[in-house]
Amino acid sequence: MANKRLGRGVAVVGAGMSNFGGFPGKSGRDLFVEAFIAMRGSVNKGLDPTDIEAFYLGNYSSDLFEGQGHNAPLLADWVGLTPRPAVRIEDACASSGVALRQGIMAVASGLYDIVLVGGVEKMSDLPIEDVTDALATAGDVLYEIPAGFTFPGFYAAMATAYMDRYGATPDSFMSVGIKNHDNGALNPQAQFGSRIADIMTAKIKKAESKGYPVPTWDSEMAFLHDDRANPMIAWPMRLFDCSPVSDGAAAILLASEEVAHSLTDAPLHIIGSGQASDAALHARPELTTIGAARWAGRQAYAMAGINPADVKVAEVHDCFTLAEIIATEDLGFFAPGEGYIAAEEGLTSLFGPRPINSSGGLKSKGHPVGASGAGQVVEIWKQLHGAAGERQLPGQLDLGLTHNVGGTGQTCVVHIFERR
Ligand code: COA
Repeated sequence: MANKRLGRGVAVVGAGMSNFGGFPGKSGRDLFVEAFIAMRGSVNKGLDPTDIEAFYLGNYSSDLFEGQGHNAPLLADWVGLTPRPAVRIEDACASSGVALRQGIMAVASGLYDIVLVGGVEKMSDLPIEDVTDALATAGDVLYEIPAGFTFPGFYAAMATAYMDRYGATPDSFMSVGIKNHDNGALNPQAQFGSRIADIMTAKIKKAESKGYPVPTWDSEMAFLHDDRANPMIAWPMRLFDCSPVSDGAAAILLASEEVAHSLTDAPLHIIGSGQASDAALHARPELTTIGAARWAGRQAYAMAGINPADVKVAEVHDCFTLAEIIATEDLGFFAPGEGYIAAEEGLTSLFGPRPINSSGGLKSKGHPVGASGAGQVVEIWKQLHGAAGERQLPGQLDLGLTHNVGGTGQTCVVHIFERR
């Protein structure tokens, strides 16, 4: 297939997010307004919202989570966009990554010059059983869910296959969780703002103060191997291998390259975009790789004219710790079967040679599913502008990448951003 090109240049000119976490009493609409205000504050030459010509919203299921369908026009109205066209895009956990691609194509086509892309999910109002059922509808409800699969179960099956093929162990996955909690502890907008070491110490202190038997954990690994501290969810995925149930929203402003500099001094040019689909998990020949991610990545690299080694900062879809390891292989950062070794050796840590998920990733920053893809772009925006605070990566950062997966990998969308 010939390399694809955008019809004209498109840039990110602003990006912001609400805090991610559990926010009783706040609606998805409230959170989206917070994200919009944060995005507006990042447009350094100022934004008049009436200049926005269209809105593309990623949202997995406000219907099931909030009892509210058709939310794109409602959100548009709350941020002053009525009567602009407002479109909701659903591709499971890749909803806002795909919304971004739709927004890019709308600007690249010449139809619009300035477009808002959003993502939102408000998950925490439902009991966990209902959240699990709502998420499961992103699997195959004909063949997979009746067989007993949940999302932790799907990724547990992939983790089991990965361990069997390559020799990874549960410790390999735990090393990803430790690293992402370390990063999330440096992100004031993250759901879990604590290192696992700090969670462990707090639990020891609590036991001491209450006069309970004091746990004897002497390391994070000891803590993570303790069934009481880190219960099994679906073997070998434990609690600290799972992204949490989250509320949150993110907003991205896109502009054509012709008008981008009237909005900001420092646009991020979108130089690569790829998207692919795949069959449901049970119908795929391989469980240790996500084909849609490899295909989407290849398209994005080809459009950008770069290699994986050129990428300086990447936010990848770590809905489960195993998923981050597979993502780093599918994107070509490591060879198949070597992603877990890289994680164990710290190569993907904040100051390693291949930093992954500086934000804390979905694991620690949180995973409000429809907002996660747009949230990844917010981190790339911050890193490429030197605005990531304590977690700022060193050196001159010019290229960033996002990798956003829907379901078990039936959808994947990859974007590459350049600061010139
Ligand atoms: N990682 C680490 N700790 C977590 C956590 C997570 N993912 N989820 C909850 N916790 C902590 C809570 O902070 C709480 O800690 P505390 O007792 O010290 O206060 C404790 O675990 C219990 O929290 P609770 O909210 O009752 O957990 P839960 O049992 O309702 O939910 C999971 C835990 C793993 C079942 C839930 O997070 C989950 O389903 N995650 C996967 C979501 C998913 O599939 N997303 C789509 C991916 S494709």
